[in-house]
Amino acid sequence: MFSTEDIRRVRQETPGLGHRVHLDNCGSSLMPEPVVSAMKSYLDTEMRLGGYVAQEQQLGALSDAYDSLSTLFGGKSTDYALASSAVDAWTKAFYSIPLTAGDNIVTVFNDYCSNYVACLQRAKRDGVEIRVARAKSDGTLDLDHLADLVDSRTRIISLAQIASSDGLVADAAAVGKIAAASNAFYLLDACQSVGQIPVNFAEIGCHMATATSRKFLRGPRGIGFLYVNAEARAKLDPVVITNKSAAWVADNEYELATDASMFEAWEKSCMVQMGFGQALKYFLAMGVGKATGQTQRLAADLRGRLKSLRGIKVECPEAAQAAIITFNKEGWDAADVRVAMAEKGVTVQVSTIFHTRLDYTARGIQAAVRVSPHYYNTPAELDQFLNTLEDL
Ligand SMILES: Cc1ncc(COP(=O)(O)O)c(C=O)c1O
Repeated sequence: MFSTEDIRRVRQETPGLGHRVHLDNCGSSLMPEPVVSAMKSYLDTEMRLGGYVAQEQQLGALSDAYDSLSTLFGGKSTDYALASSAVDAWTKAFYSIPLTAGDNIVTVFNDYCSNYVACLQRAKRDGVEIRVARAKSDGTLDLDHLADLVDSRTRIISLAQIASSDGLVADAAAVGKIAAASNAFYLLDACQSVGQIPVNFAEIGCHMATATSRKFLRGPRGIGFLYVNAEARAKLDPVVITNKSAAWVADNEYELATDASMFEAWEKSCMVQMGFGQALKYFLAMGVGKATGQTQRLAADLRGRLKSLRGIKVECPEAAQAAIITFNKEGWDAADVRVAMAEKGVTVQVSTIFHTRLDYTARGIQAAVRVSPHYYNTPAELDQFLNTLEDL
């Protein structure tokens, strides 16, 4: 649990707090000052020395991001490739998995829009079937159904660990056991889970996992990562290769990297990479259990209080517990609630049917206001949010 001193320090180190109540942390959270400083200082070095010399001088610091990723999320630092976003990382992994007509992809009812449209494209292009594991009556993923859908032609099992539309946490390790007994690659979308709950990809048993920096990890925009284990690397030929993923060793030959850099581009923003590395260090220094525990405690409090507000319909299934809560206010469009709250200095987001069509269609939801606390929010801020919502 956070002490008063923890809260004071964290808030002092977060310049974005204090002016507004920021409750869109699953969209993009507020960076701590050390992250911003690391980027400013790197940019300054680039300004003085030029990009290449700056990079050479700070190679050690730049590689910290990979080490921290493996410390935080399991595996080795060589299992991690950096990408420009979670979707960039996910598509690189997904499109590298060969599919032939008659194969199938098993995904879930609350899959994320970008992942699902990619499945639709491959269904069209490669003649594969998409199989969707359904929800049980309590709203959670029906693992028995998922297991039944997997057969000898299943090549990909795709799961979003925490849905961005309602904070349901899937049992990713149970899916790992199903995947282990199949021929499929298990591709985990951990975009909303890293930084929000403890996550270990090696323990979950996924072959590949993807996430971004800017959400619960509190890093900058423009960077994400791919975890890809040795077994998957040995079997996969990346859909695109670059001068980082392969060396041009003879006129007609190249040698593919054997570590996760086989999926990486050489050119990227080193400044952003420094910021991301700093965000990971910040999270490590705070302690994963402490940080994620505080986030979840605030979320449980907020969820409970929202449920008891008159005229508010919480749109999440009963079993949803994470720090992403969706709701509607009687007589109001979700988009108008967002705008009205913004005018009162409270930042929330809207989740629509375009983000998770299968799930929202089945539950008759077009859009919902989405609110997501982080450990740095205070009970007083939650009060302000709830009072503002009530007063609209
Ligand atoms: C579950 C999930 N996956 C993927 C993404 C995409 O992340 P990015 O925009 O960093 O590519 C999001 C973003 O909201 C998400 O919630």
